[in-house]
Amino acid sequence: MITAATPRRRWSGVGQVLHWTCAGLILFMLGLGLYMVEWVDDPAQKFDLYQLHKTTGAFVFLLMAIRALWRLFTAAPALPQTMPRHEQLISKGVHLLLYGLIFGVLIAGYVYVSASTLPLPIELPGGYHVPNLVAPDYELSESAKVVHHRLAFVLMALVGLHILAALKHRLWDRDEVLQSMLPGRG
Ligand code: HEM
Ligand code: HEM
Repeated sequence: MITAATPRRRWSGVGQVLHWTCAGLILFMLGLGLYMVEWVDDPAQKFDLYQLHKTTGAFVFLLMAIRALWRLFTAAPALPQTMPRHEQLISKGVHLLLYGLIFGVLIAGYVYVSASTLPLPIELPGGYHVPNLVAPDYELSESAKVVHHRLAFVLMALVGLHILAALKHRLWDRDEVLQSMLPGRG
């Protein structure tokens, strides 16, 4: 990943669209995942929500792959010079961890569903299916399920921290980190 900062003050339009689309979808997936597992009892509704979760997950996977590729060739805007060196390092570390966790949750979800002994494929629009990654394997599926759950909860905590950090920049430090991810001039 290119880490050298450039003098730009804002993320480009492409960077912002990718960030906010992925952020919205991932928040939706966290909420939907919790809701369908913990709150829905009706089997038919549960089934529909699981299918929606899987299909949306496939779309998030594609979008995150595009985003990660784009990011490999694009430098981030420079962080404010007022930001202490250790905070800059923590910020970059947390962002890298967010990418890692998102891909971890996605891959675990994909393996879990692929290895399931109940053959319910990931549906795509137009009647297509995502091919299974591995052959049915009960133990693998159950382990991937546990990993999917655990990583999703770590991701939830880190997203909470990330949002608090963005607010801290705006309200406490009063620098331009939050604005750099918002549309505007300059
Ligand atoms: C960023 C993407 C994703 C996020 C944030 C996410 C999040 C979650 C969460 C929070 C839960 C509920 C865990 C619980 O309450 O214990 C869950 C469950 C589930 N997820 Fe995902 N998920 C994602 C992607 C995927 C993908 C790609 C698949 C498969 C293609 C998938 C399949 C499932 C299934 C089948 C369950 C239900 C598990 C059960 O019955 O206990 N998820 N997910
Ligand atoms: C209200 C919600 C959110 C706000 C205010 C917000 C704000 C920001 C800001 C200001 C940055 C740029 C930081 C910088 O330039 O150093 C950023 C980067 C980032 N955000 Fe968010 N964010 C939010 C939600 C999310 C969510 C839900 C995710 C996904 C789990 C996410 C993932 C990321 C990642 C991975 C980066 C690093 C971008 C990169 O270096 O490629 N954000 N966010």
